Amino acid sequence: MEITELLKKMTLRQKIGQLTQYNARLFLNDDSYITGPDKKLNLSEEDIMLTGSVLNFFSAGDMKKIQKKHLENDPLGIPVIFMLDVIHGYRTIYPIPLGLSCSFDPELAKSCASMAAKEAAASGVQVTFAPMADYVRDARWGRIMESGGEEPLLSGMMAAAQVRGFQGEDLKDNEKLAACVKHFAAYGASESGRDYNQAECSVRELYDYYLPAYKAAIDAGAKLVMPAFQSLNGVPATINPFLYKVLRGEWGFDGVVISDYNAIGELIKHGVAENEKEAAAKAFSCECDMEMCSATYIHYLEELINEGVVSEKQLDKAVYRVLELKKELGLFEDPYHGADEEKAEKLYLCEEHRKLSRAAAENSAVLLKNDGVLPFDKNIGSVAIIGPFADEHGINGFWSCAGKNEDTVTVREGIEALLGRGRVLCAKGCGCEWDDKDKSGFDEAVALARRADAVVPCLGEPQNYSGEGNCRTDLRLPGVQEELAALIASANPNTAAVIFNGRPLVLSAIDECIPAILDMWFPGTEGGNAAARLLFGQANPCAKLAVSFPRSTGQVPVYYNHTMTARPHFTEKPEHKGYTSDYIDCGNLPLYSFGHGLSYSRFEYIQMTLSGTELKEDGAITVSVNIRNASDIDGSEVVCLYMRDPVASVVRPVQQLVAFEKISVKAGETAKAVLEVTGEAVKFTDGEGNRIFEKGEIVLMVGCPGAYLLKESIKAV
Ligand code: BGC
Repeated sequence: MEITELLKKMTLRQKIGQLTQYNARLFLNDDSYITGPDKKLNLSEEDIMLTGSVLNFFSAGDMKKIQKKHLENDPLGIPVIFMLDVIHGYRTIYPIPLGLSCSFDPELAKSCASMAAKEAAASGVQVTFAPMADYVRDARWGRIMESGGEEPLLSGMMAAAQVRGFQGEDLKDNEKLAACVKHFAAYGASESGRDYNQAECSVRELYDYYLPAYKAAIDAGAKLVMPAFQSLNGVPATINPFLYKVLRGEWGFDGVVISDYNAIGELIKHGVAENEKEAAAKAFSCECDMEMCSATYIHYLEELINEGVVSEKQLDKAVYRVLELKKELGLFEDPYHGADEEKAEKLYLCEEHRKLSRAAAENSAVLLKNDGVLPFDKNIGSVAIIGPFADEHGINGFWSCAGKNEDTVTVREGIEALLGRGRVLCAKGCGCEWDDKDKSGFDEAVALARRADAVVPCLGEPQNYSGEGNCRTDLRLPGVQEELAALIASANPNTAAVIFNGRPLVLSAIDECIPAILDMWFPGTEGGNAAARLLFGQANPCAKLAVSFPRSTGQVPVYYNHTMTARPHFTEKPEHKGYTSDYIDCGNLPLYSFGHGLSYSRFEYIQMTLSGTELKEDGAITVSVNIRNASDIDGSEVVCLYMRDPVASVVRPVQQLVAFEKISVKAGETAKAVLEVTGEAVKFTDGEGNRIFEKGEIVLMVGCPGAYLLKESIKAV
């Protein structure tokens, strides 16, 4: 049926119902008895019957039950749309988005999203609240784990790739999901790295750093957008006129905007609405189409329309968007969209999905340090795996949807699978909670470290130390893990640490005493197998950091693409000079910069060739870089092209990524990466939000921040 025709048949209340979304639990009680926090919503039976969308359900069975009951009671036969946070896998879990971003491999992100979509769609999900495209520099903020890191271009490419993977070519394909980009905008700028806290950003910062990744995801076709929880420059994002002007006006986004969880209701707590009615009026007037989990629309929109505060025309526009989305997903013909318990069971953790999850974990793990210890020899006599993460199943990371701890492979299990059981020793040594001070396991741990031929301390922060609402003020390894690591390293120098984390941690103490460090992030289902293969050279590390690791928490935010100061003093060690931009007690470079990541191969950057030296506003210059693998191990290298604009009308970043390509290079061979710098890429934003192309020198650099290997100058003309 044509949506315009359908709209004509709908009552005001039916239309408003389409704009509401509630938790599945409200619909699953046969007697519809509403308990707990839901009681506060004051929803009537009728309100629940009118609801157009449901979130937070975890099986195809529940979804079908809700849909069936709804359709039996809806005279117009408009299906409910089902949404869920499918962030890094459904049941088979792949690395957290921040980890995956370190792969610098958008195709991999696309494949992972496509796999997640398959499992989720079979489980009844039709829309995922992903990707999160929040740009983040502050490692204290727990939601950094969901982000693509501190680089706008990389974050945008990863977010766009996820959109393509989730959505595919045709949303009617019942193995696909519609994607909802979130959290618009600048949620990652929450002050003090504390969740939900205010963000204050200049227009220039917004356009140059914070907005590009959302834009990339929207350009990739994302169907929905979710405003952020926090206030931006004094107004909550849910009702921030600047953000709607950018989204609906400048970018022409005409899809569904859905509020975040209770965010419209929380306008009252924010102190920008006196009551629910005012909150509804404000959010709806901004064109926030749907309301998630508060009940201001269902309670007050009708009244607001009758009073002429908002118009029925605007209501129709919002409802049209929601119905259009349902139509695009083919829900009017197939309201179950492929939900199928049996199919889902077959897909969960199947061989193919596990294989992809393992490949993703291997490609996301960053080798931070290697003083020649790794890879370990597979024929080694014995290996001791020590630490709170040695045999820990909780390595899926936050937002792991239907993923279960018991599905994951621990490091111990991974190494045992590779080497056989007899050669593996294991001890926990200590816990990993921040107040875990118990050292009674140290003696056993040190004794094992002495006995073994190689030692793998498995350290990190618990998986619920990152994710929504989980922020930290001390980014060191929690508890007494640093002490344990130092004791192990002095007991046995053949030691390589494996780190599990949802954010950059301060690893200065570990870096000082341990000769090799492999960062696994939260790698998901196959984490232990991936770690084992990387440690023993069955896989070659190839990821680079998508975010910088501070030397101490006090450095935060520390990021590679900061602007130039007039009194620069970039140091690793504390070398205080006075009247320069430094610290008395710490160097100001990060411990490991964005772009850092080692390999078992040795790559030489041997030549940089430019297709021209003059760059026009609408033009491009191709930069070819020859890379030689000077080792006897095949490997992959992420070749990154950075730029610097030495003189401009505003202060520009000291370095900025403009292109990258991941290439495989066989041992002893040379391969070419072909990168491009466009006129668009060298533009920047002025104080009024205009994009500017300025003439003058641009320096192009390849390699890694702080260690550029080749440089050339071009001219913007
Ligand atoms: C989060 C969103 C999420 C939503 C629904 C909120 O608390 O901020 O990212 O999509 O819940 O689960």
